[in-house]
Amino acid sequence: MKCERTPVVVVGGGVAGMVTALALAPTPVRLLCRANDAGDTASVLAQGGIAAAIDAFDSPARHARDTLIAGAWHNDATMVHWLCTQAPVAIKWLQAKGVGFDRDISGHLQLGREGGHRAARIVHADGDATGAVLVRTLRQRVQEAPHIQWCGEVDVGALLVREGNVCGVRTRDLQGNEQEIGASAVVLATGGIGALFERSSNPPGADGSGLALGMAVGARIRDLEFVQFHPTALDRVGAQGLPLITEALRGAGAHLLTAAGQRLMTGRHPLGDLGPRDVVARCVWHEYREHGGVWLDATGVKGDWARRFPTVLKACLAEGIDPRLQPIPVSPVAHFHMGGLAVDADGRTSVPGLYAVGEVACNGVHGANRLASNSLLEGVVCGRRLGTALTGLNPSMPRGGAYRWVERGTTLPPRTLQALRVVLWQAAGPERETPRLQQALRTCEAWIKNGWQARLAHALLAAACARERSLGAHYRTDTATSARGAIKKSFIGGSL
Ligand code: SIN
Repeated sequence: MKCERTPVVVVGGGVAGMVTALALAPTPVRLLCRANDAGDTASVLAQGGIAAAIDAFDSPARHARDTLIAGAWHNDATMVHWLCTQAPVAIKWLQAKGVGFDRDISGHLQLGREGGHRAARIVHADGDATGAVLVRTLRQRVQEAPHIQWCGEVDVGALLVREGNVCGVRTRDLQGNEQEIGASAVVLATGGIGALFERSSNPPGADGSGLALGMAVGARIRDLEFVQFHPTALDRVGAQGLPLITEALRGAGAHLLTAAGQRLMTGRHPLGDLGPRDVVARCVWHEYREHGGVWLDATGVKGDWARRFPTVLKACLAEGIDPRLQPIPVSPVAHFHMGGLAVDADGRTSVPGLYAVGEVACNGVHGANRLASNSLLEGVVCGRRLGTALTGLNPSMPRGGAYRWVERGTTLPPRTLQALRVVLWQAAGPERETPRLQQALRTCEAWIKNGWQARLAHALLAAACARERSLGAHYRTDTATSARGAIKKSFIGGSL
């Protein structure tokens, strides 16, 4: 097989991958992704927007404080301050790339509010379709960029390693044709792991394939136990991927209701319906299990829904629910992975030649629970930094020494994969306890020989077992004295 060469390979066509590729100009880059466009990425589904302190009464320091509080102070504080300082710069950069953010009648950027934010600072586009607008615009810029070669409908299943350095990838297309590409740097921008959970807001492609590849080559991992559960997805019985109901609706005045029609968040957190996501998700899940359902009442949200919340409106109407007139049934879902391949501020993993950016990476910025609308932000800010750091690389040169291919391995059979999703949701969902975690660990251990998803799930469960105390999104019911104590503690748990 002929091995092609390029300076940089980027795996993943979401916001982080595209921004990294754009920032690499004029260094040639191959951008490899599983879909033909970026349509299967979590980026495209992102609703809320991008957090940035651009209001005169706000500041990056306040944004940083909210990020640290939401993250249960488990964050890397230096990264947090840098991210929040870069946020207004990122908005300007995106505008220069052609992203049209929503404006008010005086022409100022409209700023929404979401959970955990003590100020209105969410910049958005086409109402709740921010991710889709970003992806569409960046995709156009990528298509125009002469230094980027986009290769769609390919899966990267192996990394080439020479003397401990990653120096290439092997791809396979839909017809099963394989290609080897040598590169001086390989960037994983493959997104998160939400699709490995029974209830998820993520697309099927967010299955941890890049994380598993990095783990296979021995890259250090960090904080795998921290999975964020979003409190409100549309509760469609029997469906795995549940449409997100953006937190921005609660920012606009919607509130959560119990089955008895009472306000769910009253007295449970000082920020009420806009408490941090981990706190609200636990309250929703507890109520859901105890009383069979939770509803989001957005009937008081006035204005033009078709402009401000077109994505939510469409998803609800498709299920026969008019959110302007009736409460929306909601469920928590796996939404974002704070853990991942451990990287430094420039996106370097512990394996030379291998980099990671976006959700697959863990640079510590999100701590134990990501603040709302900090993920697209991270993709843009860290993608620009990584792309800039890699500019000027030459194509990898054929050199002597022993090469070896490190494979991600076989995929679990569909039935086992579905069973694994159930196991992960039940054992490592919004509430966790030792016996269920240990049982799930044993189950996944038995499946490891059958597929890489089990290896990944096993590593996550092992990390969850090892962290015996609750922190952020990792909530252990067995470290509290009673179920009621557990819930009470969860309202406080590091998030006030
Ligand atoms: C949302 O719109 O509620 C989600 C935004 C995010 O993931 O931060």
